Amino acid sequence: MISATCVAPVNIALIKYWGKRHEDLILPVNDSISMTLSTDELCAKTTVTASESFETNRMWLNGEEVPFEGSPRLQRCLKEVHRLAVANGSQKVPPSWKIHIASVNNFPTAAGLASSAAGYACLVYSLSRLYDIPLNEELTTVARQGSGSACRSLYGGFVQWHRGALDDGSDSVAKQIAPSSHWPNMHVLILVVNDERKKTASTKGMQQAVKTSQLIKHRVDKVVPERITQLREAIANHDFQTFAEITMKDSNQFHAIALDTFPPCVYMNDVSHRIVSFIHDYNEIMGGYHAAYTFDAGPNACLYVLEENVPHLLDAIQKVFPSDSFDSDTYLRGLSVPKVDKSHKIDPAQ
Ligand code: DP6
Repeated sequence: MISATCVAPVNIALIKYWGKRHEDLILPVNDSISMTLSTDELCAKTTVTASESFETNRMWLNGEEVPFEGSPRLQRCLKEVHRLAVANGSQKVPPSWKIHIASVNNFPTAAGLASSAAGYACLVYSLSRLYDIPLNEELTTVARQGSGSACRSLYGGFVQWHRGALDDGSDSVAKQIAPSSHWPNMHVLILVVNDERKKTASTKGMQQAVKTSQLIKHRVDKVVPERITQLREAIANHDFQTFAEITMKDSNQFHAIALDTFPPCVYMNDVSHRIVSFIHDYNEIMGGYHAAYTFDAGPNACLYVLEENVPHLLDAIQKVFPSDSFDSDTYLRGLSVPKVDKSHKIDPAQ
């Protein structure tokens, strides 16, 4: 019996992936850019074990068994890992051995907090350790086939997932733009508005968007290519003003497309919209962008803010959205760690 255990953090998209051009291979309609959080918070932890005595492949998520054979994505990832093992001449695990996978998330699953990104990145990376396959761009194509955004979590720092042009998806890979040490004072605050499972899963929401939204065509052809170039430049130059503006605009356009989908997908709620207004008011008072919001397929806010501005922003958030579970002391103690993210509960009733 042999095992491997790995931890993978979530990544939060700055330019969103939304829409596929191939459902099974998970090929996106546009490039996306994200930042991977540090491994101290919001992580998936996965142990994969291979044994001669296992009769079937099995998987447990947060302690509950999930049907392995009923999941084409899991099966595809395992098949791709087997293919890479053969291609790399790895004989560490005999091909006939079955595997058991146990994965846990330390944050709400499917509440729009990129749980599938961390989960599949962690699974594929753990399998790569088990089967002795190197971490390279090809491995990102395997994670991509588990969940699109997962390919970006295989790298730390700022990462671009290239849409690619080939039909087989071999050039639809994630590449690191810059490691987290490039911009060590960049922090993310996660404001947990609601940790329930989202109503329309991302996979279905984006499928419907590609079918019914007219805005998405404009986004893919005209908006994203320019934004990718501008954001890469902003990251290279530590230009928070451009970074913040692109991030907020892209979040807004993604949710505009969700609303332009028919029937519409509503991911943000009243509290999310109050956070958007708050950040714009805050930036106006501060005389420039001091914080940027982004929302994935759920109501929870991710705020990008530079370390030196964190205490002031936290103070303002606590005044505007008072909450018992807001724990700024703990957060502040964590400031010595680059890119600390921290969950804070906002009470929607306030
Ligand atoms: C809004 O990667 O979860 O978080 O590929 O169908 O598994 P599938 O979708 P998924 O979608 C993530 C969408 C997003 C934006 C992003 O992370 O880029």
